This record gives sequence, structure tokens and C-alpha cells, in this order.
Amino acid sequence: NMLKIEDLHGRVHDYLRISITENCNLRCTYCMPAEGINLTPKAHIMTANEIETISKTFVELGVKKIRLTGGEPLVRKDARDIIERLGKLGTELTITTNGLLVHEYIKTFKSAGISSLNISLDTLNKEKYKQITRRDHYDALWKNINLLMENNFEVRINVVLMKGFNDSEIINFINLTKNLNIQIRFIEFMPFNGNQWDKSKLVTYADILELVQNNFQAENILRIQDKPNDTAKNHKIKSYVGSFSVISSVTNPFCGTCNRIRLTADGKLKNCLFSNTENALLDTLRKGESILPLIEKNIKSKFPVRGGMKSDEEFQNPELFSKNRSMIKIGG
Ligand code: GTP
Ligand code: 5AD
Ligand code: SF4
Repeated sequence: NMLKIEDLHGRVHDYLRISITENCNLRCTYCMPAEGINLTPKAHIMTANEIETISKTFVELGVKKIRLTGGEPLVRKDARDIIERLGKLGTELTITTNGLLVHEYIKTFKSAGISSLNISLDTLNKEKYKQITRRDHYDALWKNINLLMENNFEVRINVVLMKGFNDSEIINFINLTKNLNIQIRFIEFMPFNGNQWDKSKLVTYADILELVQNNFQAENILRIQDKPNDTAKNHKIKSYVGSFSVISSVTNPFCGTCNRIRLTADGKLKNCLFSNTENALLDTLRKGESILPLIEKNIKSKFPVRGGMKSDEEFQNPELFSKNRSMIKIGG
């Protein structure tokens, strides 16, 4: 079995990321084109049953961790049903969400065994939050972040950095970790279709470290050991309750330890964030055929790094990255 989820580069894919919807209640500029996206018709989106069936197959193959993504996973009407079903599969279950609906799911998360949530929050400025998300829900989000902490969930905050927009807030974000038991995760802005990525907007891992070194004394900046398949390089300020980390997909890719496979809401297997090699797993399932050969095919066709783009020139080329999906249709 392990053979099926091991790629040709020795990486065992025991972490499945499932997007359960392309819909979202926000409109973040780095995630979707201003004009919106063409939503896949509902008939071609996986049902709760199909998600459960496919997940069970992956668990039998050795998957140990499932993360639900979107769009925004919690806007899906039957999200509760999906979470409850996947909670019974015996894997670690977790979710990446914009946090706006988590207050409706506290009980569901607990009964499904979800103990940690990744929440998107790119600025601590209410006006800027409105600018980036094109919606005015900043206060509602903080209410929910506090609710999660009160309920003892591990809260990790995803901050996509964009130069000139929120890089001036890096130290403010770190200062939040002085008294709050949260992990702030600074993310290098990545190129996807329609998100107007440009190298000049990139804030790098090196930029962040330099800023941190200018603001804190060297002996107070601690590097924390990462877990084997972490995307994040973890740090903390001595005596602070929380921590901060950097997800450096652009300047320091972590493909060598990649253990991730993605299932899009329309039932396509995607073996890398940056790869356009997709296999229509849902079609195969609906024909009543075994999905195993396609899973194996998808994993064996995975490139060693960044979907086969070896050079930064290729990776940063708008003609190439605009052929990939928008982030909202991948799920991160
Ligand atoms: P863990 O499951 O705890 O490792 O969280 P995560 O960081 O993988 O998940 P999350 O959904 O919070 O994503 C945070 C950022 O990491 C987003 O920008 C994702 O697009 C990015 N990310 C997640 N997985 C990968 C990956 O396999 N490769 C790359 N390059 N980026 C990834
Ligand atoms: N670059 C980096 N991270 C992104 N995310 C969405 N779009 C991008 C991008 N272009 C992050 C969001 C969310 C996670 C799933 O992916 O912040 O938290
Ligand atoms: Fe894995 Fe692709 Fe991300 Fe590299 S870029 S870590 S191969 S998903």
C-alpha cells in the first residue's frame, strides 16, 4: 500500500488537503481575480458522500492527516456533516479557514477531534482588512479568534505579506505573541492565476529575519525545531507566550520534505500547488471504477520541486503561473 502513496523521489504522501468548496464569503485580492471566478456547477462538485469515500481510500493507503480547505470550507451548507464524517476516520483532522463562521462550529470541531485551526488574517488594521478582503468583518473575526482561544483551540494566524501593504505590521504581529498563545505565520506571497503577483511585492524570509534582528536582541530570538513536514520555519521571542514563523515557498521551497496531495472541490487530484497535472478522480469514482490507478498515476507523476519549474524565472513567469488555477480553486 505504501508504494501507492510514495512518489518517484521517495516522498510518502500521507497528508491529504481537501478543498470542499470554491465559494468564499471574502474576496481577498491575493487569492482570486478582481472579476471573480467561474464557479464549477454544483453537479460537478464532490458530495459529502464522495468526499468520505475518497478519504477512506486514502486513509487505507496510509494518509495520516487531512486538512479541509476551500474557498472557505465553512460556507458549505453541509460542512458540518463532512467534518463529522471525516472526524471518524482516525486521522489528524484540521482546517484552514478565514474564521468568520467558526462560532457556529465549536461543538462540531470538538466532537470531530479538531484541535488546531489555521486562520487567515493579513493585517491588524481594520481599514486595510476591508481593502484586502473587500469586506468589513475585522471585528467579527477577532471575536471568533478570541472564542477559539477561550475554547482551547490551537490558533495559528496566516499572514500573506505584500510589500508596501502589510510589511510595516510584521513587528506588531510578533508583539501580539507576547501575551497571546498563538502562532503567527508570515507567508511569502505566491504567484497564481489572477492575483497580480509581482516580484516587487514579495517580502522574503531574509527581509523578515533582518527586521526581527533590528527590533529584538539577538539572544532573545529563538529558532524552534520544526516538525518533519512543516511548511513553516518556526521562531519565538524569549519569554513571549506565542511564536512566529515564516512560510518561504518562494525563496526557500521545502519540496524535499513534501508529503502533500491535494483534492480540489471538483474532484481533481493535484500533486503540487504549482502543477497543472490534474487527474479527474471524481469522474472515475462516478463511473464506478477503482480510483487506485489514478491515485498512483497522480503521485508517480509528481515533479521533485515546484510542479517542475526548476528556475525562479519559470516560477515567476506570468504566462506560466496564469495557467495554474487561482488559489481560491486550489485551497492552499
Ligand atoms: P500544516 O498542515 O500545519 O503544515 O499547515 P500549512 O501551512 O500547510 O497549511 P495552510 O493551509 O495554513 O497554508 C499556509 C500556507 O502554506 C499557504 O500559503 C499555503 O498555500 C502554503 N502551503 C501549504 N502547503 C504547501 C505546499 O505543499 N507547498 C507550498 N509551496 N506551499 C504550501
Ligand atoms: N500566496 C501565499 N499564500 C496564499 N494564500 C492564499 N493565496 C496566497 C498566495 N497567493 C493563503 C491564505 C490562506 C492559505 C490557505 O493560503 O492566507 O490562509
Ligand atoms: Fe510540495 Fe509542490 Fe509545495 Fe513543493 S511546491 S512543497 S512539491 S506542493
